[in-house]
Amino acid sequence: MIGLGYVGLPLIREFMEKKLEVIGFDIDLSKIEKLNRGESYLHNFPSSVTKTWAESGRFHATDDFSQLENVEFILICVPTPLNEYKEPDLSYVAKTTEVIAKYLKKGQLVILESTTYPGTSEEVMLPVLEANGLKAGVDFFLAYSPEREDPGNKDFSTAKIPKVVGGYTPKCLEKAISLYQEIVEVVPVSSIKVAEAAKIVENTYRAINIALVNELKMLFDRMDIDIWEVIDAAKTKPFGFQAFYPGPGLGGHCIPIDPFYLTWKAKEFEFNTRFIELAGEINTYQPYYVVQKVSDALNHHKKSVKGSKILILGVAYKKDVDDMRESPALKIYELLREKGAIVAYYDPYVPETGPHRHYPHVNIKSITYAADKIADFDLVLLLTDHSNLPYEEILEKAQLIVDTRNGFKQNSPKIFRS
Ligand SMILES: NC(=O)c1ccc[n+]([C@@H]2O[C@H](COP(=O)([O-])OP(=O)(O)OC[C@H]3O[C@@H](n4cnc5c(N)ncnc54)[C@H](O)[C@@H]3O)[C@@H](O)[C@H]2O)c1
Repeated sequence: MIGLGYVGLPLIREFMEKKLEVIGFDIDLSKIEKLNRGESYLHNFPSSVTKTWAESGRFHATDDFSQLENVEFILICVPTPLNEYKEPDLSYVAKTTEVIAKYLKKGQLVILESTTYPGTSEEVMLPVLEANGLKAGVDFFLAYSPEREDPGNKDFSTAKIPKVVGGYTPKCLEKAISLYQEIVEVVPVSSIKVAEAAKIVENTYRAINIALVNELKMLFDRMDIDIWEVIDAAKTKPFGFQAFYPGPGLGGHCIPIDPFYLTWKAKEFEFNTRFIELAGEINTYQPYYVVQKVSDALNHHKKSVKGSKILILGVAYKKDVDDMRESPALKIYELLREKGAIVAYYDPYVPETGPHRHYPHVNIKSITYAADKIADFDLVLLLTDHSNLPYEEILEKAQLIVDTRNGFKQNSPKIFRS
C-alpha cells in the first residue's frame, strides 16, 4: 500500500482482517514510525487496530521502496490535489509511478486508487511503467479502482462499499477482481477510463447538488423560508429526491477538487464543463456569504465586525473528523480578521490548525472550552456541527449565534442562519 493516509489505512485494515501480508509505504517518516509502534495518527482510525497490525508479524511500514520487489499487488493511495491555478497536480502519482517502475517485476499488479481524471492510468502511468521493457497485460498488470471511503461515516466502513474496478486488459481486470473480492463486493467495468470517470462523476454530483442547495439557501433566506425545514419536508418523498445540505463552503480532499480534474481534461476536447464551473462559483462564494451574515447579525446588535470578538465553533471540513484539508474555516477566519474582528476558535478534534496549503502563515490553536468563556464573545459562529459540541449550553451562554449547519436545530432570537 503506497500512501498511508485517510484512504490507505482503512484499506490495509480490510486486507489484514483477511490475514494477508501487507507492507505500507510512505515518504512521511513519522507515520512509518508510528505504525511500526502500533500507533494510529488519524482521529477516526483507532490505535487498537494498528496495534494488532504491529503485533501480527504480517505488517510493517517503510520508506524503503526496494521492498516493492517482494509484493504481488501494489495499491497507490497518494494525494491528487490541485495546483494554484486549479489544475490537476499529478506530481505525487508521477513520482510514485517512477519508483514503482524502478522495481517493477513480472507478474505484479499495479492499481491506482487515487481520484483523478479519465486517462491518467493509461496516459500518465502506463508509458512510465513500460519504459523498462515490461509489457502491461502480459508481463505486469494495470488496473484502476477508485476509493470511496467516507471518513467519519460509521454506517459505511470500507468493507460495505462496493468497489468499482477497471483493468487495462481482461487479464488485468481478472487479477484485480481476485484481490478485491477477498474484502468487498466488486463492480467490474469495461475499461480503466470508465472506472476513473465513475469516481469523478460521483464527486461532481455531490459538488453540484451542494451548490444547488447553497443557492436555494440564499434565495429562501431572502424569502424568509427555512431551507432546513424545506429539505426535511422534500426528503420524505420516497423516490426522485436525495437530500443535500447547505454549509459554509466545500471542504475536504475530494469534493472541492475532483470535479476540476474533469474540467481540466475536458479542455483537451474543446469542451467547457459549465455545471462544474457554476457549482464551483456558488460554493466558493459561501465563505463570503457567511461573513456577510456575521456582519448582519452584529449589525442587529448595533455592533460592527471591526473590534468584535468572534468564536468559531469547528474548523474541520465536516462533522466528527479532524481533517482540515480545504476547510472553508480558514478562509472565513481570514476574511473576518481582514475586517478587524478578533477571532478565536474551538474544535475538539483540531487542537491547532497547522500551516495550511493556502494559508501557510496561519497557525492558530483551539481555545480550551469552558462554558463561562462563551458569553465573552460578541458572536459565536458555528462552522462544523461536531456531534459532541454542548449546543444547549452554548445557546444559553452566547450573546449571538450564526449557525451555518443547523447544528442548534431550533429557532431562537439569538440564532441567525447562514
Ligand atoms: N480522504 C478521503 O475521504 C478520500 C476518499 C476517497 C478518495 N480519496 C482519494 O484518495 C487519495 C488519497 O487521499 P487521502 O485522503 O488518503 O490522502 P492523505 O494525504 O491522507 O494520504 C496520502 C499519503 O500519501 C503519502 N505520500 C505522498 N507522496 C508519496 C509518495 N511519493 N510515496 C509514498 N507515499 C506518499 C503522504 O505522506 C500521505 O501519508 C486522493 O486521490 C483522494 O482524492 C480520498
